[in-house]
Amino acid sequence: MIPAILRFIVLICFVLLVSFAVLYQWGVGWAIVTSVLLLSIPLFYSYMNLARLGRQIQLDALETMALPSGLWEEVFFKLQRLVKNLKQRIRIIEQQHEHFIEAFQASPNGIVMLDENDQIEWCNSIAEDFFGLNFKRDVLQRINFLIRRPEFFQYLNKRSFEEPLLLERMGADSSLSLMVQAFPFGNQRNLLLVQNVTDLQKADSMRRDFVANVSHEMRTPITVLMGFLETLQTLDLEKGQRDQYFDMMMSQAKRMKSLVEDLLTLANLEANSLPAPMNMINTETLMALLRNDAEALSQGKHSFKFEVIDKESLLGDEREILSAFSNLVSNAIRYTPDAGEIDVRWNINSQGQGEFSVRDTGPGIASEHLARLTERFYRVDRSRSRDTGGTGLGLAIVKHIAGRHQAQLLVESMPGKGSTFTLRFPKERLSS
Ligand SMILES: Nc1ncnc2c1ncn2[C@@H]1O[C@H](COP(=O)(O)OP(=O)(O)OP(=O)(O)O)[C@@H](O)[C@H]1O
Ligand SMILES: [Mg+2]
Repeated sequence: MIPAILRFIVLICFVLLVSFAVLYQWGVGWAIVTSVLLLSIPLFYSYMNLARLGRQIQLDALETMALPSGLWEEVFFKLQRLVKNLKQRIRIIEQQHEHFIEAFQASPNGIVMLDENDQIEWCNSIAEDFFGLNFKRDVLQRINFLIRRPEFFQYLNKRSFEEPLLLERMGADSSLSLMVQAFPFGNQRNLLLVQNVTDLQKADSMRRDFVANVSHEMRTPITVLMGFLETLQTLDLEKGQRDQYFDMMMSQAKRMKSLVEDLLTLANLEANSLPAPMNMINTETLMALLRNDAEALSQGKHSFKFEVIDKESLLGDEREILSAFSNLVSNAIRYTPDAGEIDVRWNINSQGQGEFSVRDTGPGIASEHLARLTERFYRVDRSRSRDTGGTGLGLAIVKHIAGRHQAQLLVESMPGKGSTFTLRFPKERLSS
């Protein structure tokens, strides 16, 4: 490549030579005209190239423009290479940026980037949902103007972020518990990580309730037992009275035993997340067993109807199915006053699903209790249920057994009109 200065010297020499030749032939005037004309040719060429460059820059088409010849070719070529390299680097940076954003968006946690004034620089969509933010609208707004909670305000102001902060009753319907922690980075900026701990909090409070309930349920029979034991120790009772005390102690001990047995059954069911086996259960034999138990429990106080409308067998775990069915039947007996009617039936419904239902003419259950019946220890009428020996675990066990058999527990009830408890099994759990 010829250096530019050499080209320039060659050009000037050429113009001078031609101008002298013209001067010699036609005089000064023509020599001046010739030199101006000769000099204006590269000037015009440069002007045209500059104008083309301006146009291409405006169209952002520098990389694709055709290269001119001569000195400008080199300039344009270097310019094109520079622009190509710069654009390539920008593309790489943009891709990396997009990957970061995608990774942050994929996070199950809320992420908010705050600048040195606690203004939102960026947040992911989970954080938008948690705090009701809208990134486009709220960008560069101070976060404590948007999350108006005194404890959050204090947390940010204190500037010691070793411990996370628990924010309760958050979200659109105030149902979320969020764990928030700030992590300082860069120049006095903070990354806010937000974790949804609603389920953990619920599990924690359920565990606390459960321990409180078990202790409460055990305390009553233990206190009664201890009372009788003290009496027996201190007083010299007659045989008849002593036997009566022993009977009462036995009934309290039985109550504790049944509570512990129910708790163990529940624990076993909960520990086993696999579907129940597909053993063939003959529904007619099952109904006969249920009938015997029901009549023994009722002692002639209720009238029963046991019907097997369809002969299809059920596929499941016989012990579990018997336990679930007899829980429903024993509830009907225990909560239906004397002379009440209890209908127990097995049939296939119009959708081909198997239904085991227990209908009684008992007191019925008000609608506000229906959704909570299967909670552990939930009883509609605590005192009445305790009189009947209930601990409130029966329906929780039924629900678990239903889950293991892909069945649904349906309850229809109206106060004063009786209740119908139905277990609905899918077609796959039936065999003809
Ligand atoms: N057929 C029914 N009629 C009226 N109320 C019922 C009936 N079945 C259940 N209930 C109500 O639902 C509550 C929960 O029933 P569940 O079987 O879970 O517990 P329980 O009968 O009190 O005790 P457990 O079955 O553990 O001995 C009962 O306490 C009772 O108030
Ligand atoms: Mg029960």
